[in-house]
Order: sequence, then C-alpha cells, then structure tokens
Amino acid sequence: MLDFKKEISKLISKELNMEDDLIYSFIQLTKDETNGDYSFPCFSLAKTLRKSPMMIADELKEKINNTDFIEKIESVSGYLNFYIKKEVLIREVINSFDEEKEKFGSANIGQDKTVLIDYSSPNIAKPFHIGHLRSTVIGQSLYRIYKELGYNVVGINHLGDYGTQFGKLIEAYKLWHDEYNIDENPIDELTKMYIRINELCEENPEVLERCRNNFKLLEEKDEYCMNLWNRFKELSLEEFKKTYDLLGTSFDSYKGEAFYSDKTNEVLEILEKNNKITNSEGAKVVDLEQDGINTPCIIQKSNGSSIYATRDLAAILYRARTYDFDKCIYVVAYEQNLHFKQVFEVAKFLDLDEKYTNGLIHVPYGMVRLKTGKMSTREGTLIKLEDILKEAVTRAKAIIEEKNPNIEGKDDIAKKVGIGAVIFNDLSNNIIKDEVFDWDIMLNFQGETGPYIQYMYVRTKSILEKENYVMNKDLVDISELEEHGIELIKQIYSFNDIVKQAVDKNEPSIISRYLIDVAKLYSSFYNDNKIIVEDEKIKNTRLCLTYMVGNVLKIGTGLLGMEMPDRM
Ligand code: ARG
Repeated sequence: MLDFKKEISKLISKELNMEDDLIYSFIQLTKDETNGDYSFPCFSLAKTLRKSPMMIADELKEKINNTDFIEKIESVSGYLNFYIKKEVLIREVINSFDEEKEKFGSANIGQDKTVLIDYSSPNIAKPFHIGHLRSTVIGQSLYRIYKELGYNVVGINHLGDYGTQFGKLIEAYKLWHDEYNIDENPIDELTKMYIRINELCEENPEVLERCRNNFKLLEEKDEYCMNLWNRFKELSLEEFKKTYDLLGTSFDSYKGEAFYSDKTNEVLEILEKNNKITNSEGAKVVDLEQDGINTPCIIQKSNGSSIYATRDLAAILYRARTYDFDKCIYVVAYEQNLHFKQVFEVAKFLDLDEKYTNGLIHVPYGMVRLKTGKMSTREGTLIKLEDILKEAVTRAKAIIEEKNPNIEGKDDIAKKVGIGAVIFNDLSNNIIKDEVFDWDIMLNFQGETGPYIQYMYVRTKSILEKENYVMNKDLVDISELEEHGIELIKQIYSFNDIVKQAVDKNEPSIISRYLIDVAKLYSSFYNDNKIIVEDEKIKNTRLCLTYMVGNVLKIGTGLLGMEMPDRM
C-alpha cells in the first residue's frame, strides 16, 4: 500500500535537503479533519534553519507541487497540513485489501532482526501475583505485533526457579510433607508451605539457618535437594501451563534463573578484569554513582552466592551469544525500574558490542488494583491466575445465557469472550498506568471493552454471511460512500501505521484504542446506513466496507492475543 506519510516525507526532505527518516518521524496523522490528513510541524526545524516555523511552513507550501495524490496543502501557524485525495486513498485501501486480505497490516520491516521478549516469568513456589498475568498478556501481545511486522521473535519465560526460597521450601517439605498434597494442587500447596515456613523462620533463627543450608546443598547439586527442586519446578510448570493454554500463550524458551547459576562467575570475572568491582561489607558490588544511579549493584553476596541481578547479567551474555539479538525486551512491573536501570548500566561493562547494550529495553507496566470484594482471594494476596480466567469465562457464560439463551456453542463463545475481556482490559490503557480489575467494567458489552469489539465483529460477520459476500473490488463504487464510510476507510488505511507505532513504543494499547475507534465508527455507519439495499452498487460498496472492518477488527484483536467468536 502506498505509504502517504513516506511520500510526503520524501517531498519535504527533498526541499530541505534532509534525511527522509527524520522528516518521517515528525509527520503526524491528524485526528481532526480540519487539519488535513497529515500534518508536519515545523517547530523543531526553526533552530537549524534559522527561520520561524511559520516561515518554513509558508515556504514549503510554495515549493512543494501538488502531486497526483495530494489534494491541497495548507500552512497554518507553523504546521504544514496535507490533504490526501479521497479517491486515491480509498482506491489504495481497497486494492491492497483485495490483495492482502487477512494479511492486511502485516509488513516485513523486521526482516533479519531478532527481538527477544522476556515475559510472564513467574516465580516458582512463591506467592505469585496478578501482575504476572499482566506481564503474560502484554508480552504475548508484543510477541504477536513484532511477528506481524516480520521480526524474528523469541519468547522467553525467565522462570524464577532459583534462590533461597527453595532452601525454605525443601525445609518445609521435610517438616510437613504429609500435611500437603502438592501433586494435586502444587501452586496452592507450595505457596501455603512457603508462607508457613517463612513464619517459622522469623520465630526461629535455627530453622532459617537450616533453610540456608538446604539452598547451599542445592547449589552443590546434592541429589535429594535437586530431586525435590525438580519436582517442585515440574509441578508448578504444569500448573502455569493451564493458564498459558487458556490465554493461548506459548514460549520458545523456558530457561529460568537456575539455568544461569553456573554462568555468573564469568560476569564477576569480566567486571573484575575491568576494575569495576568494589568490596562492600564482604559483598562484591559495582558502584554506579558516576552513572547517575545511587544504589550500587550487588554482584556477589558476602556468602559467595549470586543474586537476581547477577543472573540477569549472565542471561544478557548468554542471549547476546545465542540469539545475536537486536532488541531484548523485558516486560516487568515498574517496581523493578531500579533493578533494570542497574542491570543495563552494569551490562555496559561486560565487553559486549554496543548493539546489544543499546538493545536492552525494560517495558514497565502499572499495578493491578482489585475492586475489593469482587474477586475470591482466599488468603490475602493469593490469587490463582487460572482461577481468575475461569471466573471470567463463567461470568461471560452467564451474560450470554441471559442475552442469547438459544445460541449454539456457548462454552466456546464464553471462553473467547471471557478471556478476551481480561486481555483487552489489560491492554486498553497505556500499560504504565495502574489497572483497575473490575468484572462489571471489562465485561460490559456496551463499554470500551473486548466484548464490545467482538460484538461489532460478529455483526459484520452475520451480515456478510447472509449475503454470502466475497470481496470484489470492481463492484465497489466509492462515490456511494458517505461521511462515516470515508472516515472508516481512512481509519482502515492507518492500521499499518498503528501497528508500527505499537512496535516503536512497545505499547499494545495503541492498537486497542484504535480498535475501539473503528468499532464505534462502524456502529455509527451501520446506524445511519442500511447495508442490504436494492441498489447493487450501493449494497456492494457497503458490504465491502463491512468486510474490511470485520477483518481489521479480527486481525487487530488477534495482535492483542484475543480470539473472535463467530457469533455471540
Ligand atoms: N521472576 C521475576 C518476578 O516475578 C520477574 C523476572 C523478569 N525477568 C527478568 N529477566 N528479570 O519478579
């Protein structure tokens, strides 16, 4: 599809003798008709060109000749506004849709580039948090979006499967194993054991000492400890997989922290060689004061063990060598901002090519706030992710029963709607914002929700099915499109750009908000225009629009990780 933004940036850069890409990055897609379709703000050029933004805009307007796709150009208070010829834009959309169909929006800008996404990464046998659900949902969406643009993507579950908590768990197991049925219900039972042993450790330092010793044995690969650890890990993974199946998530690698435990020495060696290590009360640390970070990064504790950060550093070395990545993205809550700042800074001292250290990206997300009383939280913070998703499905089913009791395939629909509602809720605002988890809001079919988009999609689908519609671009008469129709086509056109923006900012909510706009606009279109009319030309044109909208909704929600029901 002709990229108007690109074409415009070429026209401007030619006049200014500047890089296309730079100009391209300035050009904005306008929201409001009165400012044209694309707008180029001249403010940031004022310094370089030693002219006022108004003057730059005026001069450019005079110099740039209207081309076969530009209707007119206006210079307004330092902005250069471009109006695209409607017929050209509409034709462009219809032609490429006809060619690409359900591939619409995909591209290959990521060809030959490898992106690692470290997401979900729950801790085995520690109380886990609904925050891990967020990481899973955001991570899998980014995974799909990057894939859509042709990147080679590797999804990594950096399991929290190492650390003193396992020493504690082994102790708990020794003490109470016949009281808990960990085979039946591993996460719940292990969590309970973990909480109980922690309480005991606080009362009794001797127990804590035994726990520490267990972990030491584990590090020395003691058989009894290793076997238990393996069992805890396998049982937990089986449980996690149930959640992942419900969400449709999978990973290319499950290499967690334990995998790096014997690779942390190299980190220390390189840092020592580079004179970066100082001693602090027996621990080995890297001081980051000069790099603007006041807290030093611990590399080795006084008892000789590595910490979370050390294993992350070892993972960076390993990932650079194994995958030769262009980007390594960490989808982790903002509480770990300092951790990643430290790790990324220390990574610069590991003799890695700048390509790798520049490619390290922390994508932080906000906390989940529960609307109290709404969710079954059995023991304070203990919420099983699987239970949340199951509850979503149950609630969706109840709504469907009520709205449409005779519909076929209720369970399948309820699953897609319930899970879709949770996913969409997670991604509907900037991910850095705290999220409110409220069943009534996320399952409201009329709100800005997943079910609302699914509902609009199902509408398009039933219209098309009734007419046995097959797209034929030659039957479309664009002069028959009214205002909402034209606006919709413009929206469909911008889908490509939206997907790219989502990648540039690592922000899936750019897509979710876009989908809401499209769904709402289609709803207005649908209310104002009968679609199945006598006049074949009008009918075909409106059906074609309906077809394109349906596809965009489906592709877009797919990028968020949702599935579409066929009816609901
Ligand atoms: N297991 C960690 C936690 O739950 C998250 C790990 C994120 N990934 C990483 N490479 N540090 O807090």
